[in-house]
Amino acid sequence: MCGIIGYVGPRECRDLLLEGLRRLEYRGYDSAGLSLLSEEEIGSVHAVGNLERLRDAVADGNGHLRGSTGIGHTRWATHGRVTEANAHPHSDTTNRVHIALNGIVENWSELRQRLAATGAEFTSETDAEVVAHLIAHHLNGEQAVPASPSASRDLAEAVRLAYNDLRGHYAFVAMSADHPGVLVGARKECPLVVGIGEGESFIASAIPAFLAETRNVQLVQDGEIVELSPSGSRFIEPVSGAPIERAIEEVDWDDEAAEKGGYESFMLKEIHEQADAVAETLAGRLDSEAIDLGDIGIPDEFLRNVRRVVIVACGTSYHAGLVGRYSIETWARVPAEMDVASEFRYRNPLLDERDLVIGISQSGETADTLAAMRLARERGAKVLSITNIMGSQATRDADGVIFTRAGLEIGVAATKTFVAQVIAMQLFALKLAGLHGTLGPEVTTTLITQLRRMPHMIAELVDSVDEQARRIADQFKDCGFFLYLGRHVGLAICLEGALKLKEISYIPTDAYAAGEMKHGPIALLDENTPVICVATDSPVLDKMMSNIAEVQARGAHVVAVATEGTHVDAEEVIKVPRTDWLLQPALAIIPLQLVAYYIARARGLNVDQPRNLAKTVTVE
Ligand code: AGP
Repeated sequence: MCGIIGYVGPRECRDLLLEGLRRLEYRGYDSAGLSLLSEEEIGSVHAVGNLERLRDAVADGNGHLRGSTGIGHTRWATHGRVTEANAHPHSDTTNRVHIALNGIVENWSELRQRLAATGAEFTSETDAEVVAHLIAHHLNGEQAVPASPSASRDLAEAVRLAYNDLRGHYAFVAMSADHPGVLVGARKECPLVVGIGEGESFIASAIPAFLAETRNVQLVQDGEIVELSPSGSRFIEPVSGAPIERAIEEVDWDDEAAEKGGYESFMLKEIHEQADAVAETLAGRLDSEAIDLGDIGIPDEFLRNVRRVVIVACGTSYHAGLVGRYSIETWARVPAEMDVASEFRYRNPLLDERDLVIGISQSGETADTLAAMRLARERGAKVLSITNIMGSQATRDADGVIFTRAGLEIGVAATKTFVAQVIAMQLFALKLAGLHGTLGPEVTTTLITQLRRMPHMIAELVDSVDEQARRIADQFKDCGFFLYLGRHVGLAICLEGALKLKEISYIPTDAYAAGEMKHGPIALLDENTPVICVATDSPVLDKMMSNIAEVQARGAHVVAVATEGTHVDAEEVIKVPRTDWLLQPALAIIPLQLVAYYIARARGLNVDQPRNLAKTVTVE
């Protein structure tokens, strides 16, 4: 998740933009840049690394970078390596149009070819740069250069035309040397907000970026364009160009709340960022009938002939791997094993060059997972890393990488990185199925269509189950033990739900394969025990129902997570939207995250920094 900031007004804005970028650091980044407009010229500085590097680069410019209209950007690389050339803002061939973008432009390649044919010269490997050239193209009336300066369109109109050519998931801000005192922003799913000051205006990916300057904000809704000048804003409907009314709201957050995006904790903020995390992780990887992961560093030929897949990970990543294992075996019909990394590395595993080992680690720095990946390589296996951090050790200890794109996760209890990992594993499983021809085109298209809807379903679900989760938490917050029961992929979600409650509320929990319950854990049940059952629709739902009946027969409380349109007999039933049963996990975990969260809150605990836990475990 990149960060964007823009300013237009009377003030010299270099330091304002740098401060805005500092306040967006929590979004995570690997490089940054600024562009400022002064005397009809745009100056720009890029730097790889942290904001200090950018400050140094700006200082090295001996104050040449000046202007009262400017944009800044922190980059979380998705397309193109971490280099100065790939840092934003990007410009068009004539350096007259600059843009900063968060998100992914899916049709960048065809647009790049089209614009290159009109003389556009590209200087980066990114998808985003195409937007600067496209706006310039429309500014000039689709000519290489405008017939006459007056023939040049206004910036908002050029952005509107460009917006209608683009496909993807993004928000961007543009400025033009020929249009001083104007910024134009556009939003397609990725967040964008406007700040209205006294004779000045701000635009950013998130309110904290300009909260120190103004508390008067206007939210840019999905599918809107906004033109900014020092005197205010003009909202535009992209297709028709019609004006849109937008109220100004006052924000009463303090600095700490600002860092948390107005949420009371990073964990709650990150639970609400799961839709974005999944949208970013999917973006550019779903064609209509196939999965396109681009070059993951593992040849398709190897994947077509792979003997088996072995997945290694720790903690929450292990639970995501379990979902991935079921998806690989069910969709691709390739044998898949799953092991906790700290066990795998000491069981002298039988591996050879026909095997693929997948190491899942959001941080990319977990010692046991890295050691397991290295051991696998030593034994000749190909190693694929699934990680959230570009440049992490895991990317160096692997032959190939698939990045989740959840952005920086600050809460120790993983939430958005988990759903992003589940989705990344399912994308890989579908790619493998495509290579093995094990899924018919209809099934594949259905799954892809449902994956496309996943961000929307998650966003709605987080809001729709919130009240019920609070009520359940309030009912059971004083319980001394929770049992979680599930079958098949439901078991992976039980394990993750139980881990969340354990790590942030310190309540002992157990998660068990429901079929195993009668072989022991049933002894733990009494009329006080809350039993969380993941009973989403699946080929084993009937079995799960009988296990729920066994629990109810002991008088225990049953809270069930079930699929819309199915009937599950339980004290509390939390419904999740209907999808293919193997896509249910990324949805079913959300109510469990929220129940755990509200129980910990009810106990007055620090959910962001639980006791005894570190975000990244780099020791063995
Ligand atoms: C999960 O909430 C915990 N923070 C922990 O179990 C974590 O998943 C585990 O340490 C693995 O971390 P990784 O994904 O960075 O490798």
